[in-house]
Amino acid sequence: MCGIVAAVAQRNVQGILLEGLKRLEYRGYDSAGMTIMCNEALTRHRAVGKVAALDACLQQEPLPGTAGIAHTRWATHGKPTQANAHPHHSDAQVAVVHNGIIENFEAHQRRLQADGYVFTSETDSEVIAHLLAETLTAGVTLFAAVQQIMHTLGGAYALGVMSPQEPGVVVGARQGSPLVVGVGIDEAFLASDPLALLQVTDRFIYLEEGDMVELGAGGSVRIVDHSGKAVERPIHVFEYADGVASKGDYRHFMLKEIFEQPKVINAALEGRLGEHSVLAESFGPDAQALLANTRQIHIIACGTSYHAGLVARYWLERYAGVPVQVEVASEFRYRHPVVPEGTLFVTLSQSGETADTLAALRFAKRLGYIGSLAICNVPGSSLVRESDLALMTRAGPEIGVASTKAFTTQLVALMLLTLALDKTLGKDARDSDGTKHADIVAALKTLPDICRQVLALDADIEALSQAFAEKHHALFLGRGAHFPIALEGALKLKEISYIHAEGYPAGELKHGPLALVDSEMPVISVAPNDDLLGKLKSNLQEVRARGGQLFVFADENVGIDDTEDDVCVLHLPHVHEALAPLLYTLPLQLLSYHVAVLKGTDVDQPRNLAKSVTVE
Ligand code: G6P
Repeated sequence: MCGIVAAVAQRNVQGILLEGLKRLEYRGYDSAGMTIMCNEALTRHRAVGKVAALDACLQQEPLPGTAGIAHTRWATHGKPTQANAHPHHSDAQVAVVHNGIIENFEAHQRRLQADGYVFTSETDSEVIAHLLAETLTAGVTLFAAVQQIMHTLGGAYALGVMSPQEPGVVVGARQGSPLVVGVGIDEAFLASDPLALLQVTDRFIYLEEGDMVELGAGGSVRIVDHSGKAVERPIHVFEYADGVASKGDYRHFMLKEIFEQPKVINAALEGRLGEHSVLAESFGPDAQALLANTRQIHIIACGTSYHAGLVARYWLERYAGVPVQVEVASEFRYRHPVVPEGTLFVTLSQSGETADTLAALRFAKRLGYIGSLAICNVPGSSLVRESDLALMTRAGPEIGVASTKAFTTQLVALMLLTLALDKTLGKDARDSDGTKHADIVAALKTLPDICRQVLALDADIEALSQAFAEKHHALFLGRGAHFPIALEGALKLKEISYIHAEGYPAGELKHGPLALVDSEMPVISVAPNDDLLGKLKSNLQEVRARGGQLFVFADENVGIDDTEDDVCVLHLPHVHEALAPLLYTLPLQLLSYHVAVLKGTDVDQPRNLAKSVTVE
C-alpha cells in the first residue's frame, strides 16, 4: 500500500514525481509528500488528503531540482496527518520514503531516542531516517549506509532515500515490498509500480528481494543483490501503451474498466484456444508435465481474487474431475495444511504483490506441493517471478480499487485451466450432464459479444440502483457457482457504496439471514438457466413471503413472475451454463457502481481501502 516514486534526471523532477504519485494513488491516498534536492539541501512539502492537496502546495511554492523522492500513504502506524506523511527527514541529513512495515521499529526507536534523536511522527518509517543519519555521520556513502541498516530492519519494505551528502543520488532497496527501476535516457527512476513511470519510460528493471540500487548522474543504475554482489538485472519493455492511466470519456476508472471487459476477455483468450480445445502450451513449456501429475488443487488468494477461486472450485470439480480446496491467504499461511500427494498450488492475484498471497506461496514451497501456478495480471510481479508457472490474465492496468475486469479475466484463466486439466488428465469429454469440453470452448469464443449485450443494459441497471440509495443493508443470493458471484456482488456494494451487504448461498437463507428480511432489506439474486434454478426459485419465494424486495438478474428464458411490486426482474442474454458466473458478475458490478455514484462516494478510491495490499 503506499506508493513510492523517485527520480534522478536532467530536468526538474517535480512534475514527474507528481504525475507518478497520481498514478500510484490507488495504492494509498490519505496523505502525500515530496522531497527534492535543491541547491544541495533537502526541501519538502507534505499534505494530508489526496495527491491533489500536495499539488496545490507545490503550485504555491514549487520545489525545483533534478533529484527527488515522493510518496503517497496508506496509514498503518499513526493517523493520516502531515507529521506522519512521508518523506521523513532526520534533521537536514537524510530523507526517506518507505512502503511496508518495520516490525522492530519500537526497539530501534527506544535506542535512538536514548541517543538523542527526536521523533516527529508516530510512524514506524521514521526510524529508517534516523538510523541512516546515524550511520552516515560515520563517513560512509549513502549506499553503504542503507546496506548496513538493512540488516537491522525487520519486516517488509521498499525504500527510496536521499542525502545532501550525495546530492545527485537516490538509493533504493527492496525487501518484501515491490520496487522497479525505470530506465530513461540519461535519467533513472524508481517506483512501486511501472505504471507510475509510463510517462517517462517504458523500460523497467524489476528488483529482486534483498536488492539495493543506486541511481546516479547520467542515469547510471548500480544494483547489488542481498549478498552485496553487483548484479545485472534484465531490462523489460512494458507491454502496455501509455494512456491506460487515463479515464478517457468515462466518469470513473471503475466504469471504464467495467466496459473494457469484452475487450480484455478477448485478450485473455487470444492464442489460447484451438478449434475445439484449449492450447495447453498457454501455460508455458513446463506446464504439461505439471498438469499431468496434478491430482488435486489448492487455490489461495485474497479479496475479489478469492471469490474467483471459489467459482473455480465448482468448475474444476465438475468439468475436470479434480478435487479443489480454496482458502484466503491470510488464514492458509498460519495453518498447518496437510498436502496430499500430487497437489498443485495455485495463487490468484491481480497485482501479484499482495503480501499475504506472496507469503502463502513462500510457505507452500516448504509443504511438498508438486509445483505452483500464479494466475496474475501483472507481468514481472513477485508472484509471477516466484511461481513455477504463470498464466497472465491480460486485463491491463486496473486503477479502480474495486476489482472488476481483473476478476472476470481471472475467471477466464481459471476456465482455461479447467479445460487444460480436463484435456491433460484424459477426461476430456463431459460431466454427468454430457457437457462437452468443445461446447465450452465454442461458448468462450462468443463470450465477449454476450458481455457487450449485458453492458448495453447499463441504463436499466442505473434505474434499478435508485432503489438502493437509501438502504443500509442488502442481501445477495446465488446457488452453485453463483454463490461466489453473490459474495462478489456483496463485496462490490460494500466496498464502494458503504452499504452493509452479505452474500449467501440461497439454500442457507432459511438458516439465519431470513430473519433479517423485510421491506427495508433489498435481496438481489442471479438466476441463470441451470439445474439449480428450481431450487433457487423456491428460495426466492421464501423472501417474498417475508415481505422482502427482490431484484433478480435472470436468463432470458427464465420466467419469474414480476407482476407484483415486490419483484423486479432484469433479463440477461442466454449464455452456456459453464460461463454464466462470468456474465452475471457484470450487472452486479454496474449496480454497485451506480449506487455508489448516487451516494456520492469516492468510487475509484473508497475510504480506508487500497488496491494493492503489500502489508500483512
Ligand atoms: C485489495 C483490493 C481488492 C483485491 C485484494 C487482493 O483488498 O482492494 O480489490 O481483490 O486486495 O488483491 P490481488 O492483487 O492479490 O488480487
